[in-house]
Amino acid sequence: MLERRVQGTVPEKPHLRARTPGGEPLYEECLTRAGFDGPFSMLYRQHRPHEAEPDAVNAAFAAPERASDGKLLRRHYRSRDVAERATPAEARTALLVNADVTIGCARPTGPDATYFVNADGDELFFVLEGSGVVRSPFGDLPFRAGDYVGVPKGVLHRILPTAGERQAWLWLEFRGALAVPARYRNAVGQLRMDAPYSHRDFRAPALTAPRDEGLRGLVVKRRGAWHGFRLAHSPLDVLGWDGAVYPFVFPILAFSPRVGQVHLPPPVHATFEAPGALVCSFVPRPLDFHPQANPVPYPHSSVDVDEVLFYANDAFTSRQGIEAGSLSHHPAGIAHGPHPGAYENQPLEPLTREIAVMLDCSSPLDPTTAARAIEDPDYHHSFRA
Ligand SMILES: [Fe+2]
Repeated sequence: MLERRVQGTVPEKPHLRARTPGGEPLYEECLTRAGFDGPFSMLYRQHRPHEAEPDAVNAAFAAPERASDGKLLRRHYRSRDVAERATPAEARTALLVNADVTIGCARPTGPDATYFVNADGDELFFVLEGSGVVRSPFGDLPFRAGDYVGVPKGVLHRILPTAGERQAWLWLEFRGALAVPARYRNAVGQLRMDAPYSHRDFRAPALTAPRDEGLRGLVVKRRGAWHGFRLAHSPLDVLGWDGAVYPFVFPILAFSPRVGQVHLPPPVHATFEAPGALVCSFVPRPLDFHPQANPVPYPHSSVDVDEVLFYANDAFTSRQGIEAGSLSHHPAGIAHGPHPGAYENQPLEPLTREIAVMLDCSSPLDPTTAARAIEDPDYHHSFRA
């Protein structure tokens, strides 16, 4: 989904016979999207990557259980009330689901004990609290609070949270391909000069020399279930890679916000898109500058989408009673807008310090049992003056 990068040593053309510096055969692995029509990467390995044998898996994926009460209401979930789990793989907890996307959170206390492949979709984390490293055959990719962390579908990896730090991550899984909005690209695929970010804002893993952590366990999530495998060799045996599919980090504060004379609608904050979902980043910025501008968003009925907001701090201009880690769900079918007092409390400061991730989802979202357990039951009524 990003620009092509090359690390390490790669043969002069794809699909040639090649050897390691020690004279052993070099094995090319092609990771391709949309069949063979989409973005791809090629990894050059010391060992054949397709020797994994089925094996027992110690834990089962907690498949999301839909738990809608059938009522059309605005909802608020406190994601930091979700229980901590031992590993990032186990900690991925679905809160809102539809056919296109899973919206959840993860609060791991330690590193993945095995390698993990999510073969169900592209993943995007937003790190509210904590830091760590995504380790994959592409190399190590450090992340910290305020980062988006993208892990493409099918990429073997292991997440290692920094020891001793509390972790709180938003977790998103997309059934279709996650990408930078097409309108930000020019005809040759570069990010346009007027895009809200540049290629330099995206960080890729740094490939190191092949290594063996001694781990051979692999868990593959496919069709909502975990499948165990045993690897024949260390999967971190890559001498070079070349391609446009790899884990990445994008710091939310690298997003360059748009400001208008009067209020601009949320898609100006579009950061990533996938079929059925648009991800927008709200970051600190000056407010609208017309002398009579109303910097508070207008109440609206965006009748074709369910809107979800994940708040990274408690400073959202139009909302009260939310906290860092709050997740609001405003379903299509009922209007939503600012909390009482947002208009009346003007004049506001000329700046907003809000940091939030928004998703517009084109299919209705259902809460899970995990979401219902952390729901703020008074939220819908908090909009009454
Ligand atoms: Fe909205």
